[in-house]
Amino acid sequence: MQTIVLATQKGGSGKTTLAIGLALAAIQAGHTVRLIETDSQGTLSNWQSRRPYAEPIVEPIYAAGDFEQRLQSLDRSGVTLTIIDTAGGVNAATTAAIRYADLCLIPARPSIADIEATATTLGMVRASNRPFAFILNQTPIRGQRLTNATTALGEEAALDISGVVATPFIVMRNDHQDALSAGLAVNEYAPTSKSAEEIRGLWQWVEAKLNAGATIHDELFIGEVQEAPLATMFIETPAEAAAFVA
Ligand SMILES: Nc1ncnc2c1ncn2[C@@H]1O[C@H](COP(=O)(O)OP(=O)(O)OP(=O)(O)O)[C@@H](O)[C@H]1O
Ligand SMILES: [Mg+2]
Repeated sequence: MQTIVLATQKGGSGKTTLAIGLALAAIQAGHTVRLIETDSQGTLSNWQSRRPYAEPIVEPIYAAGDFEQRLQSLDRSGVTLTIIDTAGGVNAATTAAIRYADLCLIPARPSIADIEATATTLGMVRASNRPFAFILNQTPIRGQRLTNATTALGEEAALDISGVVATPFIVMRNDHQDALSAGLAVNEYAPTSKSAEEIRGLWQWVEAKLNAGATIHDELFIGEVQEAPLATMFIETPAEAAAFVA
């Protein structure tokens, strides 16, 4: 079983939305997924209660000391992927969850406040020596703000952007909010939409990182500076591409 943790102290950056989107994309790719909620706000359980389907099961774990036993038990029961949605702020459950992460995903909107807030989470992830990546969420389709945010995150991690900033970025679109209200993932609510396409692309990036990152330490990426993977953005015409990199 592999374990993904969505964490950042900044509220509203998209931890729960991305946990749901990735869960459904992973299920569609053949995984048996369990969603774990450590946030007493209950956004994930509330989503489950609005949901017309039983899967994926949402299970709360609030006590830091409960993770080890529950994760072992899920592994034995045939779950292949656990996705842990944490609360904003800094708390013992988040710290514990990070310790068990095969990959820690740190969402951030492309704003200075969100990017600054990632530093604390990154510090916790590094203290536990866990593989990590940033996800830029609620982004504009393109623009300088997005380019600056990507650069800032790469600099913060002091690593090659292509290894630490997941692609594609997840654009701000109403589908995500409408899906949450309907108890669905965006891949169910609007399966042919750009939002769903981005989430499926994000899952593929995360899956590749999971498969590689469990064994390769991120420090290996230092020095291997390559072009940021902008080509994986949803740029459809040469004019859009020119505008994006301008
Ligand atoms: N890409 C997106 N486009 C549009 N709306 C989005 C997107 N991602 C998230 N949202 C919306 O932003 C709000 C906050 O998202 P979400 O609840 O996932 O954040 P969170 O990090 O889990 O917040 P908290 O720290 O409070 O748990 C929700 O209303 C959600 O529907
Ligand atoms: Mg949340």
